[in-house]
Amino acid sequence: MKTSLIILAAGKGTRMNSELPKVLHPIAGDSMLVHAMAAGATLEPVNTVVVAGHGAAEVTAAAQAFDEQAQTVVQSEQLGTAHAVAQARDALAGFDGTAIVLYGDTPFVSPATLDAMMSAAKDADVVVLGFEAADPGRYGRLVMDGASLERIVEFKDASKAERAITVCNSGVIACNAALLFDLIDAVDNDNASGEYYLTDIISIARGRGLKATAVTCDEAETLGVNSRAQLAEAEAAFQARARAMLMEDGVTLQAPETVFLARDTVIGRDALIEPNVVFGAGVTVESGAHIRAFSHLEGCHVSRGAVVGPYARLRPGAELEENARVGNFVEIKNAVLAEGAKVNHLSYIGDAFVGAHANIGAGTITCNYDGVMKHHTHIGARAFIGSNTMLVAPVHVGDGAMTGSGSVITSDVEPDALALARAPQVEKPGMARKMMDMLKAKKAKKQRSS
Ligand code: UD1
Ligand code: CA
Repeated sequence: MKTSLIILAAGKGTRMNSELPKVLHPIAGDSMLVHAMAAGATLEPVNTVVVAGHGAAEVTAAAQAFDEQAQTVVQSEQLGTAHAVAQARDALAGFDGTAIVLYGDTPFVSPATLDAMMSAAKDADVVVLGFEAADPGRYGRLVMDGASLERIVEFKDASKAERAITVCNSGVIACNAALLFDLIDAVDNDNASGEYYLTDIISIARGRGLKATAVTCDEAETLGVNSRAQLAEAEAAFQARARAMLMEDGVTLQAPETVFLARDTVIGRDALIEPNVVFGAGVTVESGAHIRAFSHLEGCHVSRGAVVGPYARLRPGAELEENARVGNFVEIKNAVLAEGAKVNHLSYIGDAFVGAHANIGAGTITCNYDGVMKHHTHIGARAFIGSNTMLVAPVHVGDGAMTGSGSVITSDVEPDALALARAPQVEKPGMARKMMDMLKAKKAKKQRSS
């Protein structure tokens, strides 16, 4: 069955007290909107339509950064969820299939639940995602008759008996697109909020003899974010789930509650992650790699057998091949460390290629930026870069070459050559002793005169 997504993201999110549109607040390194889009993307939708309102330009940019095919439509006045969905009508003109409505501020609906809704949509005209709420609060209530969903009543409009219902509306709906827009045409705003409620399409469908049903999921999936406190709860819930999943997949987390993961973090079986490691977006760590304590990784790839940290920073474009080593207080950015290459102490390697089994001495820096442009450094296989070498890019050090400690390397080094680029040592016999005596005499004279 063909699917299209309609993601509601026009609301202001007043309680966030923020300049940033609510749906763009991040959880695990990606905006809530991206979490919702990523879950929806598993259905391989024909169209993804984001209904934006507050901060529409920023919301559009974020949607398209994740999926350049995504379309945005603008709901300039927030007149209710049915009115919001109606804005997607033109974008879905000619689409013949199931539309799924998601909320941009409800990031955790799982792909499995969306699959279950698509299956249910095969034998029902409208499918609503419900959940058994521990505290039903102000959620809309699902009024069921056996397996048939008769209507959804909003809390504000509900009777006492209806408020006692604990099965609540998540907001996620699946319905044939043409039928959805047709049902929405019949929705009015004659209710306690004066809004066009999407939830009204259920009673309208039932009145036409159509079939409506509910699929239920765990309440954790329908967690919505309305405040900073709920954002923090959502982050914690995400982290707890992601850590548990990794451990189930055979990854060792020595202190799971201190490891922070991103939405897209991938870690292979038998990798070992020590305490206090932070994964930003776009990291893959292969099986058997070892990430030591207090390391920060982002946009990088760590191959099998590689060891990172403690206290290492891998920035976007860092690519560690098998058995590479990155030690303490080392920063790697946009650079490849080929198999077995070592950068063990206090270095910055940026915009560089480090050949297989090369050894980079402590304090080495690739001087990649001239204030205007970035330049590349190439270090050949088995090269030995002496401690505190400055490699002024662009520069090329050949295979098997060496640089002397403290060298400032400004021109290319031939393979197997030794490059020395530092002032020669001068030695003055007895001079240290003489200087000491002179300084002590000076100090004594000063003390006498005061
Ligand atoms: C809605 C449901 C309620 C459900 C609850 C789950 C309706 C009428 N009610 O209530 O049954 O239990 O969600 O959280 O649908 N939005 C727009 N444009 C609008 C209005 C809303 O884009 O004009 C977006 C919001 O940004 C938000 C979502 O739709 O992402 C839900 O809107 P919200 O106002 O939070 O609905 P609730 O009152 O919580
Ligand atoms: Ca809400």
